[in-house]
Amino acid sequence: MSKIITYRHNRDGVDRRRFRTAWPGPDTALWQEPDRLTRKKWPYIVDGIIAGFVFFIIGWSVALSAQAQIRPDGKALFEKRCGGCHALDRDKEGPRLRGVYGRAAGAIESFQYSEALKRSGLKWTDENLDKWLSDTEKLVPDNDMTFHVEKADERTEIIAYLKNAGK
Ligand code: HEC
Repeated sequence: MSKIITYRHNRDGVDRRRFRTAWPGPDTALWQEPDRLTRKKWPYIVDGIIAGFVFFIIGWSVALSAQAQIRPDGKALFEKRCGGCHALDRDKEGPRLRGVYGRAAGAIESFQYSEALKRSGLKWTDENLDKWLSDTEKLVPDNDMTFHVEKADERTEIIAYLKNAGK
């Protein structure tokens, strides 16, 4: 006759699995009782799909927020870094900057530019704006803007913002 044997976990002594043996004698498992640990096969697959989906969503949102943090916001940067001297639509210590992208340097009539910038003959392209913001003195010696932006990605964002603000 077959018999039912219970496998006890060594450490906590809790019943883990129950086996029905094929024959009396050696405790060889023929089949396992469908207990808690070995129940249904399909629900695990469904659980797996749900878990995978949940992790995917979590991963996705973490990636998105990380990206948002890495990518500085052009408007905020402009206000923080440039806002002390510039506004889009009025002159302050520096000239108004709406539409500056693509414009000739020193073109705002109402603003008193340095001779150096007025005579520079520059046009504000991506490249020139990036050079200007990295080191104004190197691009136009003797200009009046004593300010630069250290980080390349911040410059890129600010330039993109100025580009959009011109539209
Ligand atoms: C300390 C004040 C100050 C800060 C801060 C400042 N600027 Fe200026 N900016 C000036 C002045 C002054 C001029 C005029 C320079 C001249 O005439 O030589 C100027 C000129 C410019 C010009 C040329 C405009 C034109 O019509 O040709 C651009 C572009 C510019 N600034 C962009 C920026 C940006 C972008 C920032 C922020 C990252 C910034 N500036 C921060 C004072 C400042």
